[in-house]
Amino acid sequence: MKIALYGFMGAGKSSLGELLASRLGYAFFDLDKEIELFSGRTINEIFLQDGEIAFRRLEHQVLKKLVKNDLENTVVSLGGGTILQPQNRKLLELKSFYKIFLDVTVSQLYKRLKKEKSQRPLLKDISEEDLPGFIEALHDSRWKIYNRYYDLKLQIDKEDFNMVLDRLTMLLRSN
Ligand code: S3P
Repeated sequence: MKIALYGFMGAGKSSLGELLASRLGYAFFDLDKEIELFSGRTINEIFLQDGEIAFRRLEHQVLKKLVKNDLENTVVSLGGGTILQPQNRKLLELKSFYKIFLDVTVSQLYKRLKKEKSQRPLLKDISEEDLPGFIEALHDSRWKIYNRYYDLKLQIDKEDFNMVLDRLTMLLRSN
């Protein structure tokens, strides 16, 4: 089985993905890390030097390279913007990924993201004062696509993280 985790920045895709892969005995890939390895630069540097359009091109190229390997038993944590690009959704469909949406409330996302503002290219130039409104607007503009696309939706801030992980592991093992 191939699993793709997606959702807004700060939803916990990388942490949950890595733990889930280890429980299932699957390989784990974090798309942002793969992009950094491939380009030899951080995500911040790519945004700063080349801009967002070039980053999206690179993101697609690296995703394509990753899924081309046809790895079975894999968990991939996508970036927050990956599935907004139709060409990326097409790739995941083509390779029959099971898509899990981590749906986290805006207030939880804000709590996490305000501590990491400077490391996030989409947020670092937003003032502290404007940050809650910016996150809410960006989240709301993406949510419709996020919510249309999943095979499974997890609302992880309503439950204990480990319980979600237990439930998910059981569900996927029985699939
Ligand atoms: C982005 C999310 C980031 C990273 C890039 C763009 C986005 O990934 O890909 O900064 O558009 O939401 P995470 O969601 O893993 O932080």
